[in-house]
Amino acid sequence: LKPVKVGICGLGTVGSGSVNILLNNAEEITRRVGRSIVVEQVGARRDNPECDLTGINITRDIFDVVNNPEIDIVLELIGGTSIAKELVLTAIENGKHVVTANKALIAEHGNEIFARAEEKGVMVAFEAAVAGGIPIIKSIREGLSANKIEWLAGIINGTGNFIMTEMSEKGRDFSDVLAEAQELGYAEADPTFDVEGIDAAHKLTILASIAFGIPLQFEKTYTEGISQITSEDVSFAHELGYAIKHLGIARRTQNGIELRVHPTLISYKQLLANVNGVMNAVMVKGDAVGPTLTYGAGAGALPTGSSVIADVVDVARTLTADPTNRVPHLAFQEGSLATTTI
Ligand code: HSE
Repeated sequence: LKPVKVGICGLGTVGSGSVNILLNNAEEITRRVGRSIVVEQVGARRDNPECDLTGINITRDIFDVVNNPEIDIVLELIGGTSIAKELVLTAIENGKHVVTANKALIAEHGNEIFARAEEKGVMVAFEAAVAGGIPIIKSIREGLSANKIEWLAGIINGTGNFIMTEMSEKGRDFSDVLAEAQELGYAEADPTFDVEGIDAAHKLTILASIAFGIPLQFEKTYTEGISQITSEDVSFAHELGYAIKHLGIARRTQNGIELRVHPTLISYKQLLANVNGVMNAVMVKGDAVGPTLTYGAGAGALPTGSSVIADVVDVARTLTADPTNRVPHLAFQEGSLATTTI
């Protein structure tokens, strides 16, 4: 079988992690897919010393990648919503499958992107958009597909959880820990997204859409961040036996699906209260299975790259099994809505 050819747009933290996984784990990946996956071209404004691109075709114009007739799957790893949207829609128009880690793009423009992908018969996969390395989308969509989901709640911003943990355990200053999260490549290009809850709201929008079959409705999410939390708040809560955790919560109500992100007091007796540092965890309650919990690194080059490449493997497997088999992305229920009521 011919190799599946991948084009990568963006060589930042996630782009370099994804390239390194594809190159380092090529043997395992080939065995799992039944054919090899090769990096045909990389589009990036500058090189990244974290990965060795010897022998790989590099362009400074990312649109070269989506217009390259050789490429089967485009990896959109540039972030943001304007150029990324144009890039993804162009890739779809050109009949390419898309893998993206871009939660803002999916949460805010996913309905339009999926509709176009459906018309063109291509796949758009976005596991890496939520909770970094945790396969939470596959878990809900595939593992829990027999269940009516009652609610889900999770720590879905690694930067925020890292800040809260360091403040709580080491009494460190908010802005000092945020600077470290930026250095470690955890934070968004605009870290306001992390500390004001916008990043978590993007992710919750996506999770709720998959769990409850509702269209993506980012604007319906009640959004509050962690920027107002002080070291005193953290230590008082600690003395009372509680951790302050920033949670994304979605649950069924009589009026629709309630979506909210905000800091929450959680007793240390609960598992979620003990999820620390950059780790994320998502609890999902299904009517048949009961509560489930998935846990893992919520940000960083290799964990997020792990989810990106898992999607590449998924798409490549689908192409290998039956080239005419296109998987639907989200199956919405008619008339189902989200609500801001809390
Ligand atoms: N800034 C995000 C976070 C990156 O800290 O969770 C992963 O989505």
